Amino acid sequence: MIDKLDEAETFRAARIGRLSSVADSLALLQAWRSILPEQVFITAGPLLDNATPLTAHERASVGPLDAQRLLELESGRAYAKRALAMIGYHGVELPVAADRSPSWPTGALGSLTHVMGRDGGHFAAAVARNDTIGAVGIDVEREDGLHPRLWDHVLTRQELARILALPVAARATETQIIWCAKEAAGKAARRPIEPTELEVERDRDGDGYTATWRHSLEERDRSANMWHGQVIRSHGFILAAVVVPKGRST
Ligand SMILES: CC(C)(COP(=O)(O)OP(=O)(O)OC[C@H]1O[C@@H](n2cnc3c(N)ncnc32)[C@H](O)[C@@H]1OP(=O)(O)O)[C@@H](O)C(=O)NCCC(=O)NCCS
Repeated sequence: MIDKLDEAETFRAARIGRLSSVADSLALLQAWRSILPEQVFITAGPLLDNATPLTAHERASVGPLDAQRLLELESGRAYAKRALAMIGYHGVELPVAADRSPSWPTGALGSLTHVMGRDGGHFAAAVARNDTIGAVGIDVEREDGLHPRLWDHVLTRQELARILALPVAARATETQIIWCAKEAAGKAARRPIEPTELEVERDRDGDGYTATWRHSLEERDRSANMWHGQVIRSHGFILAAVVVPKGRST
């Protein structure tokens, strides 16, 4: 039922012309679903015209902001609240925590991501109950390639070597996929990390990847410090998700 509501909203936004097509936006929602386990609930779509305003508590938690940022926060939280309703949370507030992540209600956890744009951009919120899932992080990037001057900041030496082994035309996009994969892992960790703290290795087949915390590379039990994620390209965007099972941590 809630899924249907979300699809109805996506359809409405597309009809008023901000999205290139209804099919694209519904495909993005399906793409998210395809990279998340069933215990994680996702809502996604374009910037909302009719997002509920932030509550006074949420507004006070943000600090000074401009009109565009307010729209972004309102849409992100509107999607998050719809996702929370899927797991039984209604009428909750999502103030901004000290680390800038959303403060999830007791018993829940989640992750938000968004890119703005004249086409309505793309927003997504993933939530789960914390008795089923240990952590979740999602990230979306518009697929336009990461400029080579940023590669040193983003890539470890091993990742750079793998990128340079690819055909030139594929390198910027592949680097951006790795960046997106790291952002999802960083959000799941809920602490600031340097991109080169993580080593991302994409599975040979399929959409899976592992993100290994490099401080653990020399340790015997590397698997305890290795998180699994999924990253895909869909309709001009890159979507990544890391879901950590209950009981795992870094
Ligand atoms: C702040 C940060 C999350 C923004 O990421 P981004 O790709 O520019 O933007 P996104 O739209 O994908 O994500 C923004 C959302 O992430 C969430 N977020 C912000 N800080 C966060 C944190 N410390 N942990 C988890 N989520 C966070 C917020 O919900 C934010 O949206 P909101 O402010 O509207 O609520 C990112 O730059 C960052 O610092 N991430 C922390 C993880 C990290 O260290 N990553 C480094 C890459 S390895």
